[in-house]
Amino acid sequence: MYTQDQLKAMVAEAAKDEVLKNMAPGGILGVGTGSTANLFIDAIAPHRAHFAGVVSSSQASTERLQKHGFKVLDSNSVPSLPMYVDGADEIDPAGHMIKGGGGALTREKIIASMAKQFICICDSSKQVSVLGNFALPVEIIPLSRGIVTQELTKLGGTVTLRMAKETRSDLGQTPSQPYVTDNGGWILDVAGLKISNPLALESQINQIAGVITVGLFAKEKANILLVSNASGVSRITF
Ligand code: A5P
Repeated sequence: MYTQDQLKAMVAEAAKDEVLKNMAPGGILGVGTGSTANLFIDAIAPHRAHFAGVVSSSQASTERLQKHGFKVLDSNSVPSLPMYVDGADEIDPAGHMIKGGGGALTREKIIASMAKQFICICDSSKQVSVLGNFALPVEIIPLSRGIVTQELTKLGGTVTLRMAKETRSDLGQTPSQPYVTDNGGWILDVAGLKISNPLALESQINQIAGVITVGLFAKEKANILLVSNASGVSRITF
């Protein structure tokens, strides 16, 4: 039996092979955030010369990429992005995802929207038939917390303001305060939803004033899923 970390490492390795095989040298790669994306960064590090640079979806990934010697580019300076590789908190049979457990959903969605192909990498524990067991993250402008909480509650969810887990002096946050994203936003986690129509719910939540991004990736769904379980890595296209 493999541990979850081993399953993540297996899929990170498979993603490295996928990218090196299908992306022409000299291109720019989009890189996601989270523990699986971290292992992917480590796997491609010896091949950094293959890429003209990378675009990163968070401060944490940027730091890891820079430590490995990657050139991290400003997304505004990037003319095209053939591929974006990132994990997910849940993925359904159509490739719709919940993301943002790590708080990087807004930048992740921006980079996903720039990329021709979204390659989702995860272990099979993230595969679900209907999204919603994982609380749906919604990044908001802090002063809209009250009204957005009311609107999200009307959808049938239980809404919790995400609190900081650790002190981040750069953002002035401590564990007794709300978690602050790389963009200065707060995150509401919405538990108890059964998301049968991800595309419709994504657009409905996007309409609420004060919402920056909902961590439902339906419009920007995965194009390819690399998923690992005890028998190895499978490749699914959507
Ligand atoms: C970060 O904000 C998230 O969207 C991550 O991509 C997602 O939570 C998956 O993270 P793990 O690979 O750590 O499970």
